[in-house]
Amino acid sequence: MNLEPDDTSGAIRTRSMDSLEKFYNQRPDGSSQQEFLTQVAHTESGQPVSDAQFESMLGQIRELLGLTPSDQLLDLCCGNGLITNALAEHVERAKGIDFSHQLLSVAHQHHSMPNLCFQWGNLLRPNDIPPDQTRYTKVLMYAALQHFGHDDLGSLLEFILSVSAERVTILFGFVPDRERRPVLYDTPVKKIRNWSRRLLGRELIKSWWTREEFLEACAPRGLICSFHSLPANLLASGYRFNVRIEG
Ligand SMILES: C[S@@+](CC[C@H](N)C(=O)[O-])C[C@H]1O[C@@H](n2cnc3c(N)ncnc32)[C@H](O)[C@@H]1O
Repeated sequence: MNLEPDDTSGAIRTRSMDSLEKFYNQRPDGSSQQEFLTQVAHTESGQPVSDAQFESMLGQIRELLGLTPSDQLLDLCCGNGLITNALAEHVERAKGIDFSHQLLSVAHQHHSMPNLCFQWGNLLRPNDIPPDQTRYTKVLMYAALQHFGHDDLGSLLEFILSVSAERVTILFGFVPDRERRPVLYDTPVKKIRNWSRRLLGRELIKSWWTREEFLEACAPRGLICSFHSLPANLLASGYRFNVRIEG
C-alpha cells in the first residue's frame, strides 16, 4: 500500500469522513488487476504491488483467518472487492461492506460471485447498517483501520460480535504500528511534511495503533488477541502489523 511520505499517488488523506469517502469515490477507473490494486491503494512507490506480493498477502489472510468451506465471511471496508472475491472461493458465503459507491460499483461489476454479495455501509455508524440473518464465523478488516479513531475500536468490535457466530475469528490486517512510525517518517523532511499535513488534517495515516490498545479492547469482551508480522516481501511490513482476535 502506497503510503510513503514522498509519494502522493496513494495518499489517504483524512480531513473528514466526507473527504475520505470522496477520495475513495475518485479512485482511478479501470479493470485490470493493476488498476484494481491501485484503486484500493495496494501500491508501492506509486506502482501496484506485484502478483507475488499480492499472493503472499492473500495467503497470509487465508491462513490467519483459517478459512474453511463452511465459513461465513464478512469483509469490512472491502473496497472494490478484489480481496473479498479471492477469499470467497474458500468459504460457503461472503459479504463485503464499504462506503465508497464507486468502489462498490467496481466490486459488483468485476468481483461478483454466486456466493458473494456487497453492501453499502458506513462502519463509523455500524448501528445504521441493516443486519442480515447470517452469523459470521470469520470477519476481516484489511488496510482500513488507519481511517478509524482509537475510540471507534470498541464500537467496531461490538458491531462484529453482534453479527458473529458464537465462535468467530476476526482479522484486522495491515494496521499501522505506532512503535514503527519512525520507519515511515525517517528523515527530517518527511517528519516536517507529516507535521504540516497533521496540522491541516491531511495526514497520510490518521491512526497508528499499539498492541496494548487491542489487548485493552479485547480483554473485557473475553476475546484473545495475537499479533503477526506482514509478509516480508511487502514494504509495509516495516511499519504495519496484523491482529488476529478470537472469540
Ligand atoms: C485502502 S482501502 C482497502 C480496501 C480493501 N480492504 C483492500 O484491502 O483491498 C480502504 C477502504 O476502506 C473504506 N472505508 C474507509 N472508511 C470507511 C467507513 N467509515 N465505512 C466503510 N468503509 C470505509 C474505503 O472506502 C476503502 O475502500
